[in-house]
Amino acid sequence: MRPLNVLSVTSEIFPIIKTGGLADVAGALPGALANEGIGMVTLIPGYPAVLQSMGRKEVVRQYEDLFGGPARLLAAKAKKLDLLVIDAPHLFERPGSPYLASDGRDWPDNAWRFAALGRVAAEIGQGLAPGFVPDVIHAHDWQAGLAPAYLHYGGGARPGTVMTVHNIAFQGIFPADLLIELGLPASALTIDGVEYYGQIGFLKAGLQFADRITTVSPTYAEEIQTPQGGMGLDGLLRSRSHVVSGILNGIDETIWDPSTDPYLENRYGRANLEARSANKQALQARLGLTTDPEALLFGVVSRLSEQKGLDLVLAALPLLVGDGAQLALLGTGDRALEGSFQAAAAVYPGQVGCLLGYDEALAHQIQGGSDALLVPSRFEPCGLTQLCAMRYGNVPIVSRVGGLADTVIDANEMAMAAGAATGFQFSPVSLAALKGALFRAKALWQDKEGWRHMQQSGMATDVGWTRPAHQYANLYRACVEAR
Ligand code: ADP
Ligand code: GLC
Repeated sequence: MRPLNVLSVTSEIFPIIKTGGLADVAGALPGALANEGIGMVTLIPGYPAVLQSMGRKEVVRQYEDLFGGPARLLAAKAKKLDLLVIDAPHLFERPGSPYLASDGRDWPDNAWRFAALGRVAAEIGQGLAPGFVPDVIHAHDWQAGLAPAYLHYGGGARPGTVMTVHNIAFQGIFPADLLIELGLPASALTIDGVEYYGQIGFLKAGLQFADRITTVSPTYAEEIQTPQGGMGLDGLLRSRSHVVSGILNGIDETIWDPSTDPYLENRYGRANLEARSANKQALQARLGLTTDPEALLFGVVSRLSEQKGLDLVLAALPLLVGDGAQLALLGTGDRALEGSFQAAAAVYPGQVGCLLGYDEALAHQIQGGSDALLVPSRFEPCGLTQLCAMRYGNVPIVSRVGGLADTVIDANEMAMAAGAATGFQFSPVSLAALKGALFRAKALWQDKEGWRHMQQSGMATDVGWTRPAHQYANLYRACVEAR
């Protein structure tokens, strides 16, 4: 099959800059797709972390004025990734988060910052970056959403376009009067263009103009086409239903491998799960929990936001810790939730331990040391932590939504009899249902054989990128053939 060139357009990429799972996906896709004959180059804003990570670089294009200042498009290799980087100091040379100022509010010029991302992507698609002409542009989330729109209004030959929704809660909505400054024609401000309830919607634009739309699980692909799950975009998605599909994420199996993980006290595999006990002990010690091997240890690794449903865990705490069980939480985000978990650690000393912050090592240590991972999300496009959990013999307890529904096999009676169960699902997303799942987990914890079998089934599950990469490759090829 003919090799294809794909430009992946993203606002974050692991291991260079990350706020969530999008970075993991953007970082893993190029390697996974290489085996499918897809050459992927990633376009990313030149935040300080990106510029610092680059080795030898080449200037591909110069801009006298890219939305308010001079800029350059640089080609470089960084952390084994082939990058095209928008070096535009007036837009990206700032410390901290890619999206937020230190006061926690959006950067006031986010419209221009991510319009620049879409604009440069579109120009690369029009063949304006010597050395790399993409067959397909793959745009991720609202930050890249204008790329298909600029290509549409630019006219002329263009590559295929794929828009992937990693989270429909973030839509990139900006005032309508920016339209002309953003370089879009006045005619674009209609329902068939970039207009979204009287404003400009970057994600809306991407969904309107991309050849294909994907999201990160089949169930989420259905959910976003409903009024409850579509957050205002369900009508558009229903009208384009024939080009919408769900492709599950994988995890990078070299980064997430309990048999080689450098962050773990003890490395282990399916055959020597008992070696996990040293990890559990180290985790308990690190978070100030009683070092008791028999205590059922629940873990959480999560952004702390409304989406993740962790207020339900707080509400379930009396039951959760009721019989000596423990909670190890790593998370950051919502200040109120952070305060509540800190307070819970004081109320249940030795039983609730938390680290409020971002900590790559501790994320691995929770996966390799806790017994069960709680993911009670209200919605979850895919979710990666339950996949890591399965690979690490950490039994996931998840709400039955989005990608959680598609990746965890619930321990119902038949699945248990068949030896197929890999975790616990609960539905609806309510305190009562979460409590029910905690009861079921606690009951199975008493059955050491049954618990171990469930850990091993999770560890035998294919959570890697091979299958999804093949699906993306097929999608890109279909997209090119259709043009
Ligand atoms: P989302 O992208 O919605 O945050 P995902 O489950 O897709 O959720 O991805 C979250 C990613 O971020 C995982 O790789 C997880 O290990 C990581 N992560 C989340 N919170 C933290 C944290 N506080 N410290 C370190 N890693 C974290
Ligand atoms: C988003 C979603 C998460 C998904 C990730 C990567 O951040 O919230 O469910 O796994 O993107 O696709």
